[in-house]
Amino acid sequence: MTHQERTSRAVENGSAAGTRGVLRFLTCGSVDDGKSTLIGRLLYDSKLLFEDQVNTLERDSRKHGTTGEEIDFALLLDGLEAEREQGITIDVAYRFFATSKRKFVVADTPGHEQYTRNMATGASTADVAVILVDSRKGVLTQTLRHTYIARMMGIRHVVLAVNKMDLAGHSSGRFHEIVAAYLKIAEGLGFDSIIPIPMSARYGDNLTRKTESMTWYTGPTLLEYLEELDVSSSVSAEAFRMPVQWVNRPDLNFRGYSGLIVAGTVRVGDEIIVAASGTPARVERIVTADGDLDQAEAGESITLVLDREIDVSRGDVLASAEDRPEVSDQFAAEMLWMNEDHLLPGRSYLLKIGATTTPASVSALKHKIDINTFEKQPCTKLEINEIGLCNIACARSVVFDPYHQIRDMGAFILIDRFSNQTVGAGMIRFGLRRASNIHRHAMDVDKEARARIKGQTPSVLWFTGLSGAGKSTVANIVERKLTEAGLHTYSLDGDNVRHGLNRDLGFTDVDRVENIRRIGEVAKLFVDAGLIVTCSFISPFRSERQMVRELLDEGEFVEVFVDTPIEVCMERDPKGLYKKARSGEIKNFTGMDSPYEAPQEPEIRVDTSRVSAEEAADEVIAYLLERHRAG
Ligand code: ADX
Repeated sequence: MTHQERTSRAVENGSAAGTRGVLRFLTCGSVDDGKSTLIGRLLYDSKLLFEDQVNTLERDSRKHGTTGEEIDFALLLDGLEAEREQGITIDVAYRFFATSKRKFVVADTPGHEQYTRNMATGASTADVAVILVDSRKGVLTQTLRHTYIARMMGIRHVVLAVNKMDLAGHSSGRFHEIVAAYLKIAEGLGFDSIIPIPMSARYGDNLTRKTESMTWYTGPTLLEYLEELDVSSSVSAEAFRMPVQWVNRPDLNFRGYSGLIVAGTVRVGDEIIVAASGTPARVERIVTADGDLDQAEAGESITLVLDREIDVSRGDVLASAEDRPEVSDQFAAEMLWMNEDHLLPGRSYLLKIGATTTPASVSALKHKIDINTFEKQPCTKLEINEIGLCNIACARSVVFDPYHQIRDMGAFILIDRFSNQTVGAGMIRFGLRRASNIHRHAMDVDKEARARIKGQTPSVLWFTGLSGAGKSTVANIVERKLTEAGLHTYSLDGDNVRHGLNRDLGFTDVDRVENIRRIGEVAKLFVDAGLIVTCSFISPFRSERQMVRELLDEGEFVEVFVDTPIEVCMERDPKGLYKKARSGEIKNFTGMDSPYEAPQEPEIRVDTSRVSAEEAADEVIAYLLERHRAG
């Protein structure tokens, strides 16, 4: 949860004006549609800005939850630091205002290229989406995209704000035409309500006051509507969930688990569990800065003291023992892709859910959504701003609830492992248990035993570089020399593997990722067999080379960068492929119209334009000998 979200939750817990609770909404539309004017007017006309009070609440919120302010401050910084490090702090300004009837939090999501990313963040905590349409332009693709994202993020109410009615001659015909076009598509999404309002934000017409110029409209103004809307939520009636942000252990006499309750209510005496392990315990105390409580509910930051010593650490989720969250390493999720580089099924990303981070990949892309019709379409990748349904496989089990049940427990992000950017936002639909009945059989003979009789340290010598760089040539000599020395080897080579196992794959990015994923798995099996495996593949992407490295144990993966300049490779052109690529006969050729991401820290780097293949092979052997001696 971001700092702003924490703050606004604190606002929610503060005394609300009037009888209704705080209403959180976001506005969707570009600056041209009048978004800033609309927000500006609402803030100005309500004249009850309570930004100072917000600061006080912000300070209060910091104090909640632990026994002293210092510790909690550290906790706050800790969270923010982690977000900053991973580059996931998203730029959404939450503005606060109030009328005599209600308090409001409006998520002001800046437009421009990264728009959907900000919008999704704002939408994830909002009750209502105000979708702006310019009366002259009508329903645009982006109107529909915002609508779909709003629904996907769990928003139940939509206001279709048909703005700039003055420029359409205040025509009721035009208004109804736009509304009909919108409803035709949006109605199927299952919102609880869609309320169309004709307005001129610039003049405040139907925004904060009724207007003479559109007497044909008899509904509420936007502000009236927002003041009255009932969104009484049931988060405190949901099952209890608290991700642990901090294990608070100031001295040996006190041990508490601090965090924000994201759903449900907890009482002293309740039986809870640590979700991942299922370890039970009873709540002995609920500690806050203002003293102990008998019970606490969603939105409150607390420290729980349990009746027994159990193993709990940051990232664990404490949950109701009667109504447990799911624990699985696979699930189906809706994905909103937010990066220029498209989503590649099979690529390893970092998945962050709550305070847990784990490597994960998209194991199947089921379909994407045609944003103009909301129909499902088959696809092999997701481009920026596209939405799809996919299966995700994590390296470790994670604790979650379906997003539509508990938003805070079912939302995750995917982070690129090299750029550290947030590349996708996901909402979990349901857990997949397919893998759970497959148990690894414990074998009597293991990798160590197999390696021991061969008298060697199993490893993967991974040769990467451009086509024609000399990977296979060097690998071949290395293998010959190792065999002569009585070692047991196997070799996997691009051209060979592509005739068999990977016969179905071509040279698109998606196929190259899958190519390396499969080869990585095969190499791992050979290492398990105790062999020294040489792998010669262009393997152009850092992510996949890293993925193979992580499949193996520490030290087993030796990356050999065959760093021969492209001019030399072109000159050699052993298979005549560069020539064909130049004439356009073959597409997606590495180094020409397909990228090669050079290794940043390979274990070994050789340039076959400077040394002979024989010398390059000797360098690799020397490295292996050295490592064998050291290890
Ligand atoms: S990788 O990119 O997926 O790692 P891999 O090493 O398996 O590629 O296969 C590369 C070999 O396929 C090259 O040595 C070359 O002989 C052949 N090839 C055919 N088309 C292409 C292409 N478009 N790009 C690169 N290599 C190609």
